[in-house]
Amino acid sequence: MPSEGPTAVIAPGLDNIPVAESAVSYIDGKRARLEYRGIAAETLAKESCFEETTYLLLNGKLPTQKELVDFDNDLRSRRKLKTKILDLMACLPEKGNTMGILQSMVAVLSSYYPTKPVSPDPKDNWDAVLRIIASMPTIIAAYHRIRNGDKPLDPRDDLDHAGNFYWMLFERIPTPAVRKVLDACFVLHAEHTMNASTFSARVVGSTLADPYAVISAAIGTLSGPLHGGANEEVLPVLEEIGDPSRARAWLENAVATKRKIMGFGHRVYKVKDPRATVIQELAEHVFVESGRPKMYETAVEMERAAVNILGPKGIYPNVDFYSGIVYKALGIPVDLFTPIFALARSSGWLSHWCEQISKNRIYRPEQVFVGVEDADYIPLEQRAS
Ligand code: CMC
Repeated sequence: MPSEGPTAVIAPGLDNIPVAESAVSYIDGKRARLEYRGIAAETLAKESCFEETTYLLLNGKLPTQKELVDFDNDLRSRRKLKTKILDLMACLPEKGNTMGILQSMVAVLSSYYPTKPVSPDPKDNWDAVLRIIASMPTIIAAYHRIRNGDKPLDPRDDLDHAGNFYWMLFERIPTPAVRKVLDACFVLHAEHTMNASTFSARVVGSTLADPYAVISAAIGTLSGPLHGGANEEVLPVLEEIGDPSRARAWLENAVATKRKIMGFGHRVYKVKDPRATVIQELAEHVFVESGRPKMYETAVEMERAAVNILGPKGIYPNVDFYSGIVYKALGIPVDLFTPIFALARSSGWLSHWCEQISKNRIYRPEQVFVGVEDADYIPLEQRAS
């Protein structure tokens, strides 16, 4: 038994415990408001693009036209992967864990583009920051093609971040509506205050590990089903329900049996996640081309039923509830949904990393010890079997 009782109160999940000062983004969970550097994420999703949003997150201000062109060119020039990295991916299993592979390949980049020692000045790390953001779509698309027996496609300098990713996946240029919704999904997933993966990035960054290790750790954290992995878990549920007419009964039964409903609930939002609303609006433009999937109708019906059933507890759809339906409508395989979340979130993670190292102190929290103290070592031969 410990000699003394716990000396501190634990907040499980660090609920309501600030762990850093940050100027990157802000959420008002009651007003359904998400701001990147003061600007509403919905506005950026509709009127801006991923490249400009990334510049804003990293630099704390909107770019001038010239700054944006230069920044965009800097990203485009870093998209291509070394042949040796593509060769490495060709050795991986076709049914590999896509998040694990992304995590590993980002870590591998550090051997080709070393950054040590990490400088506290973000400008000194700019090449690595841009390289990670630019490379992640190429890694995801290349692995997808390799596992299907296709040759990875070179990135195209004449396409933007979203358009080029779609091209590298499918060897097709997206329609304007598809490009827009994909780009908006990137923008809406780019940043989200102190969530688990961002905290993870800041913890690893605080040790002055290189940015590839930082992002690799954040990708691993994002992969869990309670975090980014939820977007892959929503579709099987909608498939299980099968038809909008069965949504209410399914939900009532799920709540009665205490089943967790993926794509619902959030630590901070106690109203509908604003990102889910924008994704729905933009998805309608895609559905004009591809038809409104029955799965979407089922999701809308489920949300309608959830207002009365889960709403009183502050549980509403989050970003992951509708994003998977949109990706499926674009023909994207389910196991790429969370990697896409990661490629978008890389700009938020790196913005937090720059903030962390510019005013760094290594994270070293406390614990409440509940174990045994001063125990004797009993030699192996004297231990009871
Ligand atoms: N379905 C059913 N009940 C829920 C749900 C849900 N999705 N979310 C929360 N609850 C209930 C939970 O059972 C608990 O009830 P009670 O007080 O009766 O025990 C109460 O609400 C509080 O839940 P919690 O799990 O303690 O809340 P949290 O703040 O720790 O967790 C969450 C937040 C997102 C992990 C959780 O809502 C959840 O597991 N949702 C499903 C997974 C999901 O969609 N995750 C994606 C989050 S958005 C994208 C991202 O940022 O990663």
